[in-house]
Amino acid sequence: MSIELQNMAKDILNRTKFQGKIAIVLGSGLGDFTENFTDPTVIPYASIKGYPQPTVEGHAGEFVFGKLDNISLVAARGRFHFYEGHSIDTVTLPIRLFKALGIKYIIITNAAGSMKKEFPPGKLMLITRHLDCTFRNSSKDPSWVDQAPYYFENILNMVRKASELTHVPIAEGGYCWTQGPVYETPGEIQYFLSLNGTAVGMSTAPEIETAGDLGIKAIGISCLTNYAAGITDQPLTHQEVMETADLAKNDFSALIKETINQLGSI
Ligand code: HPA
Repeated sequence: MSIELQNMAKDILNRTKFQGKIAIVLGSGLGDFTENFTDPTVIPYASIKGYPQPTVEGHAGEFVFGKLDNISLVAARGRFHFYEGHSIDTVTLPIRLFKALGIKYIIITNAAGSMKKEFPPGKLMLITRHLDCTFRNSSKDPSWVDQAPYYFENILNMVRKASELTHVPIAEGGYCWTQGPVYETPGEIQYFLSLNGTAVGMSTAPEIETAGDLGIKAIGISCLTNYAAGITDQPLTHQEVMETADLAKNDFSALIKETINQLGSI
């Protein structure tokens, strides 16, 4: 672990006295989840020496430390995307910082496009595998990343249980990570469908991989905010993404809260 990272963690631990094991990364339009926290302590990214700043609308730039039903946790409101020009190192910095803070479980959320007619906007989806569709390293057809280091049945089952207990239905499927920053073309979406993808988005996969590599158990949850390009003839906008995320807020909060309860009990 770099000295810089150790110093960031030390500074945060000094300021928060944090002792939790659960972190959550809040995706576009989902940042309000921290309103549920008791005893919140806000640490703006700008107050942490050497920490980068996000630039996307719908993403604040702060950590919120607090409690939910007496379970200590930390939320990242605002993340770094590859399409903003950040390196993968920066994109995954929050995960490495969480590791330095002692985190064992991370819930990583995002807004994503649905490639399946049967999963309409507003639906939540548990990510059960992911595909790197950035073509950064190769122009070959991408293959599904080995699930074993990154997806754990007992952890996924907690989300399924939370869905049952809260009556918030959750879809399941494969997440296709694209580079962005533009939304896909209908042709690209047909191609991802031919690879058996379910949802498409511009984040989360590198964070899930870094978590797994560091021995942190991750859960990925997408809020399907829109049909992906060409699935319907509706045009696709960032505004629609933000509005649908807002509409799904209550379901999202209920499901995540119960998932945290499940994680808090192990
Ligand atoms: N494509 C990529 N990223 C997204 C989408 C989409 O349709 N919706 C929300 N994030």
